[in-house]
Amino acid sequence: MNILVLGSGAREHSICWALKKSKKCEKLFCSPGNAGIEKIAECKFLNLNKKLQILNFCKKNSIDLVVIGPEEYLANGVSDYLQNKGIKTFGPVKKAAKLETSKSFAKSFLLKNEILTPKYHKFTSLNKALDYLNTVNFPIVIKADGLAAGKGVVICKNLNQAEDTVKLMMKKKKFGNAGEKIIIEEFIDGFEISYFSFIDKNTFLPLGYALDHKRAFDHDRGPNTGGMGCFTPSKKVSKNLEKKIIKNVIEKTFLGLKKENFIYRGILFFGLIIKNKEPYVIEYNVRFGDPECQTILRKLKTDFLEILSSITKDKLGEIKITNSRKSVVCVVLASKGYPESYEKEKLIPNLKKIKDNNRTIIFHAGTKTLSSNLVSNGGRVLSVTSIGKDIKEARKSAYKVLKKLNWKDGFYRKDIGFKNF
Ligand code: GLY
Repeated sequence: MNILVLGSGAREHSICWALKKSKKCEKLFCSPGNAGIEKIAECKFLNLNKKLQILNFCKKNSIDLVVIGPEEYLANGVSDYLQNKGIKTFGPVKKAAKLETSKSFAKSFLLKNEILTPKYHKFTSLNKALDYLNTVNFPIVIKADGLAAGKGVVICKNLNQAEDTVKLMMKKKKFGNAGEKIIIEEFIDGFEISYFSFIDKNTFLPLGYALDHKRAFDHDRGPNTGGMGCFTPSKKVSKNLEKKIIKNVIEKTFLGLKKENFIYRGILFFGLIIKNKEPYVIEYNVRFGDPECQTILRKLKTDFLEILSSITKDKLGEIKITNSRKSVVCVVLASKGYPESYEKEKLIPNLKKIKDNNRTIIFHAGTKTLSSNLVSNGGRVLSVTSIGKDIKEARKSAYKVLKKLNWKDGFYRKDIGFKNF
């Protein structure tokens, strides 16, 4: 099969890596890709806003499957367009992507389908939101309704911080239109997990989970990021809890999608908080998580291409998923300054000297080749991903590679997976 992957992160690098392992993978393309992806796939720039350009590329290269990584493409209706033109596409249509692109839509969906979620109020008026803040207990969670690259959720400890956050979103428009509407949500004190399930028109198939570290610095300090590292599995997640997640969250969501007549062909990411052994949905994402994907795909033993291809034909029911029992840790190496401002085109001198092996794979995110040198090209730059017999062993391997990389223009968290082995 000829495949086109859309995206440029470490998530897409791991997707390309997993697809490439399949015997059925013939030609692999990626747009736009990065310096790591271009080693295993042919990279080509296709404009997200020029759907016809993507379609023409698919036709010219006899593409059998398009795999959409980032939410922006889904929000933009790329999946709808390609599916309507007869191109098999992994990733939900725009209507279903609203589960991620509108927090208020997701909240109504959750309530309608009797899925446990924190209590909330939505606001389109700045003054009403500010008035409401005088009536709540802290901490409280404030969310921009639309897409904000993982940075639109703030846990506010007191009234001052909450007022500033609301003004930042609604008045100063830090997230543009995404903050015109906001959600103010009850804070649930528990631990967070990212759970993933494949879905097609007829069925769903749980894949697994990872625990993400969203804050920039050690011990969960600093601003929220897209994710600084994650690990799987965790001793905190029992078989019983997984059963509950599948029955009370995934199955109810799948049935809800059916009721709405949303045809969902892709992966659904359930952002959960576990409190008193009960899973509360705090968000849906209509794509793989980054960096969660990097860990989960390293454990997957079933042919990834077969899974994705079966979904596009609504034959997911024929697939059985097998995961390795090993543990995986992924540590993100980011540019100094991320998630705020950072410099680009910084040389990563030691990267060329380090070869991937059975234990550790370095998935690239913001990297590019400049005059035959590997340089940074974004906030999150590399995902060092190691597998081991337990979390401790996987951590050891990942951190050894990070030490060797010794990148002076970057930083990484030292405590990924530390609390859980
Ligand atoms: N790591 C969280 C996300 O991908 O949204």
